[in-house]
Amino acid sequence: MIIQRFDHEDALASALASRLIDAIVRNPRLVLGLPTGRTPLPVYRALRDLTARALVDWSAVRTFNLDEFAGLGGDDPGSYRAFMQEALFDHIPIDPVNIAMLDGGAPDLAEECRRYEKAIADAGGIDIQILGIGANGHIGFNEPADELHAHTHVATLQRATLDANAMLFGGDPGRVPKCALSMGMATILGARQIVMIALGEEKSDCVAGMVTDLITTRLPASFLQVHPHVTVMLDHAAASKLV
Ligand code: PGA
Repeated sequence: MIIQRFDHEDALASALASRLIDAIVRNPRLVLGLPTGRTPLPVYRALRDLTARALVDWSAVRTFNLDEFAGLGGDDPGSYRAFMQEALFDHIPIDPVNIAMLDGGAPDLAEECRRYEKAIADAGGIDIQILGIGANGHIGFNEPADELHAHTHVATLQRATLDANAMLFGGDPGRVPKCALSMGMATILGARQIVMIALGEEKSDCVAGMVTDLITTRLPASFLQVHPHVTVMLDHAAASKLV
């Protein structure tokens, strides 16, 4: 793992946005894996700014988001689709047909998960997967457990995750859907490159465990240790427990 520390989230965001734009320039058909949450917001702002300034051509770039709430269609304001439109997609010249997201409103969620795995394979796999990390060590909605799913699946969300997503539902964790669709561990680890981003003290314990402890399903992010091309981008608070 390559660990990069930054003085401020804006410095992290601009470094990652520049890396992504460089990758798009080198490969206009880049396949990006994208996260939602608070952590990527500065990165999406930096991507929007760089795109406007450098006239980046997004027309052939394809994206796959990590996860989506079960039971919410993409037009629901609490959906991750709505989050992504507002944070990024509405502000960059990406072709909507190249945006792939799990459909939480699909009538058959197991079939929707299979469709998504196939779509990723048909796209040739993910070139760069951006990841956040939950304070409980989850990646995507792969929550700490005795066993983890390899492929895209329906996940039951833990209390900490419901609380962390309450902002999308008027601050009320009780309104957050209890289940979600998520890429699995093999889906995520199948990306050619992975970039993990984490900000703030509340992530410092799981970041330290992810980097230095033994691999365990109780800290799903620890599986990134087996991937050959991972960059971990941290502010000083998130890096504070790394020895
Ligand atoms: P956050 O979520 O960026 O809102 O902290 C990260 C995650 O749960 O993956």
